[in-house]
Amino acid sequence: MAGGALAVQYTDLRGWLALVDGLGEVRTVRGAHWDLELGTITDLFQRRMGLPALLFDDIAGYPSGFRVLTNTLTSDRRIALTLGLPPDAGARGIIDAWRRFTRGYPTQPPRAVADGPVNARVQTGDAVNLLAFPSPRWHHKDGGRYIGTGGVVIQRDPDSGWVNLGVYRVMVHDERHAGVYISPGKHGRLILERYWAQGRPCPIAVSVGHDPLLFFVGGLEIPYGVGEYDVAGGLRGAPVEVIESEVTGLPVPASAELVIEGEVHPGEERSEGPFGEWLGYYAGGSRPAPVIRVLAVRHREQPIILGNLPAKPPNDDTYYRGILRSAMVWDELEAAGIPGVTGVWSHEAGGGRMFLIVAIRQMYAGHAKQAGTIAMHCHAGAYANRYVVVVDDDVDPMNMNDVIWAMCSRVDPREDVEIFAGRWSTPLDPMAYPPERRNRNARVLIDATRPHGREFPEICMAPADYQREIVARWRDRLPEIAD
Ligand SMILES: Cc1cc2nc3c(=O)[nH]c(=O)nc-3n(C[C@H](O)[C@H](O)[C@H](O)COP(=O)(O)O)c2cc1C
Repeated sequence: MAGGALAVQYTDLRGWLALVDGLGEVRTVRGAHWDLELGTITDLFQRRMGLPALLFDDIAGYPSGFRVLTNTLTSDRRIALTLGLPPDAGARGIIDAWRRFTRGYPTQPPRAVADGPVNARVQTGDAVNLLAFPSPRWHHKDGGRYIGTGGVVIQRDPDSGWVNLGVYRVMVHDERHAGVYISPGKHGRLILERYWAQGRPCPIAVSVGHDPLLFFVGGLEIPYGVGEYDVAGGLRGAPVEVIESEVTGLPVPASAELVIEGEVHPGEERSEGPFGEWLGYYAGGSRPAPVIRVLAVRHREQPIILGNLPAKPPNDDTYYRGILRSAMVWDELEAAGIPGVTGVWSHEAGGGRMFLIVAIRQMYAGHAKQAGTIAMHCHAGAYANRYVVVVDDDVDPMNMNDVIWAMCSRVDPREDVEIFAGRWSTPLDPMAYPPERRNRNARVLIDATRPHGREFPEICMAPADYQREIVARWRDRLPEIAD
């Protein structure tokens, strides 16, 4: 294993909750309604980092114990804990650890087990009832109730047998039907289309509450052909336990809270959406989307639905993804041979995707634009990006004051700003085009580095060693000086 496993200390969602409770970062909320109330409480909490995770219980109209967990990854401490890092690792520590880990994507295949907690209750045939679970209607203009927001969709490639996990939203249509929205180009969509090209229905499983590591890897751009179960196993240093389903033949997490299984038939679609999305709009509207004919539901006693509420960023989806995307783009830049990268930051207010900053130690003319162009086109950075800003290594890419200062003082818009059209996007991007498909966008590269090889004014700030000397001499009398 090239990167080495992280010291992850839980194996399922309940274990994770117990650890987070130990940090004092879980709040139980009783009596909220699944229709808008739960979603709005979550949204008010997730706008700021550091507030507790929310465990909704006694949800109106549902048995006590049928719970929804939200706001899970809105603290650096919980993100670090999820990855088995010390809670005080900080964003930069998490980036460094994730880069060490993903070097070569150490993997461990899942281990099949005969049974597991997810089999505590099983509905099949006419007994299947998706309405038995407290799926929230999250935002006011959502077209329905969404059971899958923090869920992972599990599919097997019909030709190679490779198993993909992707976080794709799942809406409840009725007791036995659900809709799944998978953007064009995503691995789950490619697999669906492969079954359909063969005139066959695609077997599908949706786990809607599970080990948060599965949520992590399911939502990341893991390379095509690499199984997310295997990556989660590599991350943990122990295989994920799965049950080979007798219904779909798919491996489902043995310790999942709730798993829906069924088939997606070629061409069978129903209106899906609108849904409030990660960029803060109902931009995708409603349109026909594939339908899951649900054949079985299995769940633990008193299941917990893992929710992840997309909303105007920053939100639960954007803090941790910004951190991990920064690590992945940095790796891909180095893999493409870009020297001198000293930092990458994907800002949470850009949805963890749209505003990407790359810091470099400039070595040659054109170095900055080369780095920026690759950052916006590599796999981890390509989808729905809008801005890439390249800064010098004396600028902290995580510090927006520094970045904006560089953009204001080191950019000549006549040649340091370039526009690229026709790039990979999604209808969820309100500025995507063409109008009838909205799957491409335009994006901007801003070279905010000092012009290479040209005299540039010095920064009017005391040298670092003199600043340190002043801090040491004055901190007793002016404690704030050390902040
Ligand atoms: C909370 C969350 C919700 C997401 N919702 C969707 C979605 O509804 N449809 C979609 O295509 N991608 C969605 N994504 C993005 C994909 O999960 C992500 O691009 C992932 O890399 C897809 O897996 P794949 O690379 O195996 O296709 C979501 C991601 C997260 C974290």
